[in-house]
Order: sequence, then C-alpha cells, then structure tokens
Amino acid sequence: MTDRDADKRLAAATAVDEVCDNMLVGLGTGSTAAHAIAALAARKLRIDAVATSEASAALATSLGIRVRDFATVSRVDLAIDGADAIDARLRAVKGAGGAMLREKVVAASAGRMIVIADGSKRVARLGGAPLPVEILPFAAAFATSRLAQLFVRCVERQDYRTDNGNIVIDGHGWDDAAPHALADALMAIPGVVGHGLFLSEIDAAYIADDGIVTRLERGRNPR
Ligand code: 5RP
Repeated sequence: MTDRDADKRLAAATAVDEVCDNMLVGLGTGSTAAHAIAALAARKLRIDAVATSEASAALATSLGIRVRDFATVSRVDLAIDGADAIDARLRAVKGAGGAMLREKVVAASAGRMIVIADGSKRVARLGGAPLPVEILPFAAAFATSRLAQLFVRCVERQDYRTDNGNIVIDGHGWDDAAPHALADALMAIPGVVGHGLFLSEIDAAYIADDGIVTRLERGRNPR
C-alpha cells in the first residue's frame, strides 16, 4: 500500500537539496512543508528563512533555523511549499491549511518556487479540489453571496481564523476551463483578500509516488 507520508518526506528531502549556504528560503505550510523544514534543519546550512505561517515559523525556530520577519523582506531566493492539487502545467490549488495568502506573497517574492507533494496531489484537472478563499470577516455575508455565483457550493470553515485574522470559504464545484478568469473574478470581489489558485508562481515540483520522485519544471512538461 502507498505510504503517502513517506512520499511527502521523500519529495521534501529531495527538494531541499536545492538549498545552498547563504540563501534566504521561504518555508511553506502543511505536513509536506514540515518535512522540508525538518530536512533543511538536518542539513545545518548557513541560511535564513521566512515562514508562511506561525506554525511553520515555530517549527523552524525550534529546529534551529533562523526565521526573519517577512515584513522586512522583498525577495527570497527559493520557496518550498506543499499543494493540495497540481497539474502538469504547474498550476496548483493550495490552502487546505489556510495559509494561501502568505504562501502566495512569499511565492511571488521567490526567485524560484518549488512545490513538494505526494503522488495523490497530481491531477489532470484542478477543478476537483475545493478552492479556499480568504475573506475579511467584515465582508463575510456580502462576499459569500458573490462567491455563490462562482461555485456550486460554498462552505465556511467553522471556528476558524487564518493567521491574518480572516475567515475561509472553501468553494466546491468550479469551472477550471478558465482559471485566470476565475482568479480575476475572485479578486474583484471587495472583501476577498486572497485565494488558493496558484497559476503562475510555481517553477518546479518534486512529486514522490511509491518511493519514486519525479521533478517537473515549468515549460518542460507534456500538457
Ligand atoms: C497550506 C497549504 C499546504 O501546502 C497544502 O494544504 C498541502 O498540505 P499537506 O502538505 O499537509 O498535504 O497550501 O495552506
């Protein structure tokens, strides 16, 4: 039987080989990113990091990685993060862990952005994955009513706040034929502050399936 956690650990350990001394590294969020943080700490490199969540910052710090405040950083060398679904064009859905807004900011600042995942995350189409949308609590009812026009079903995460103090609606059933149009439509709703569609940020992916790692590079993979 496939050991998904072993595959996550393997993808993470392989990707972390890209990190060198003196890099500023963006640390993702989630179980696969946690494996990457542990693998990075084990390498004992001279690096600094920024984190995409309080949880990842705490883990990295506890393992001896120096974590800087991203508010003082405009560019990181390399970002490493997980994903909930990723296709052959390196477009992804992220945010099951609720960190998609900070993850996107760090990814956008990165010279190179790598996704790490087990094979269950590789999909032919992104639309099967719920799409997390982060919303200012003040705009909850208004934004949710607008989201209802874009998704078959909207489910608010109960008793949940992001690290930014916002709520998350998971949008189920969406049209993945024109994801850029959906991304634009989401960001055009006042009160929506972010979403989990990553359409252009990802440069490469390390995906482990039953102990075998495949590396995908943007622009070099069969569609
Ligand atoms: C958090 C994320 C995670 O990277 C994504 O949910 C994958 O998580 P995991 O590695 O635990 O499967 O986007 O916001």
